[in-house]
Amino acid sequence: MTTKPVAQGATPLLQVDDLRTYFFTRWGVVKSVDGVSFSVGRGEIFGLVGESGCGKSITCLSLMRLVPQPAGKIVGGRILFEGRDLLKLGESEMRRYRGRHISIILQDPMTSLNPVFTVGDQIAEPVRLHQRARGRDLWDRAASALRLLRIPDPETRLGDYPHQMSGGMRQRVVGAIALACEPHVLIADEATTALDATIQAQYLALLQEVHEKKGLSIIFVTHDFGIVAKMCHRVAVMYAGKIVEMASVRELFDHPAHPYTVALLDAVPPLDYRVERLASIEGQPPQLYKLPSGCSFSPRCPRSDSLCVRESPPQVTVDGGHWATCWRLVDA
Ligand SMILES: Nc1ncnc2c1ncn2[C@@H]1O[C@H](COP(=O)(O)OP(=O)(O)OP(=O)(O)O)[C@@H](O)[C@H]1O
Ligand code: SF4
Ligand SMILES: [Mg+2]
Repeated sequence: MTTKPVAQGATPLLQVDDLRTYFFTRWGVVKSVDGVSFSVGRGEIFGLVGESGCGKSITCLSLMRLVPQPAGKIVGGRILFEGRDLLKLGESEMRRYRGRHISIILQDPMTSLNPVFTVGDQIAEPVRLHQRARGRDLWDRAASALRLLRIPDPETRLGDYPHQMSGGMRQRVVGAIALACEPHVLIADEATTALDATIQAQYLALLQEVHEKKGLSIIFVTHDFGIVAKMCHRVAVMYAGKIVEMASVRELFDHPAHPYTVALLDAVPPLDYRVERLASIEGQPPQLYKLPSGCSFSPRCPRSDSLCVRESPPQVTVDGGHWATCWRLVDA
């Protein structure tokens, strides 16, 4: 488990309050992110876990204000970056934040890279835009970004096209683009899922190194509790568009309080908490456009009773920064 200092108590760099992002579809309103609140401290690595479709990516895209249009809309909440509400910025001002202050690495490098431009052009573009670098200086900064991600012979690789690189190298290039303007917050949305185990371990070590060197805050989205244990300071568990439990990583592993978290951890092989997809809990998550009444987890929860089916559960403090939303918390 990570031994690095946790940035708890520090003024949060990023604070998300009651974020709501809905999709207006012909089936109804899909509440992908429904009242999500969390904060990320300077230099903190914050994990976001949960089954497929629970709203992790839409939370991340909301932070970047890149929710798929036209169906998706951020309908409420605040996203405070150093105290400034990103939801109140005009689009051109928001563009200055993207890449420069807050950046994202997506799961599939091929969808993030443009096949018709060289790697150098794609790294240089945000640097030109945000740092107004030109000519030799621009190219030097692009090469430094590749060097930061340990890409050998960076000056030569700048002239390569994405298809000339291996999958692992391409994912490093995506990381280099995200980090080229030295953002304060990096969102890594399943950034290592597509990589094989060895390349994944190297990539995680690199992110760890950049995190330490640059004091970077990271929001780490993953299905893998092994990665959570290795990388994160704190973690939030999402279910059906909401955060249902939040705690330090050690506290979550040692004293999970929400029945869903317990079920997720029970579904993980015990030795090293590695898992590909967290799908072995009985039943399916609900459709987000027709949520059950009361607690959304009640149809699958072994502890559910009539109160759970009737009323939404309250947020209950377990211990310090550890809380869960449940009527009948699991005793630690
Ligand atoms: N373009 C869209 N139109 C309508 N609904 C959408 C759209 N994109 C996402 N959703 C809905 O939002 C929900 C949350 O999606 P999201 O991509 O955030 O899930 P996730 O937790 O990242 O899942 P995964 O682990 O598979 O990446 C999905 O269940 C889906 O129903
Ligand atoms: S509120 Fe009830 S149904 Fe929901 S997780 Fe807690 S015990 Fe289970
Ligand atoms: Mg996702």
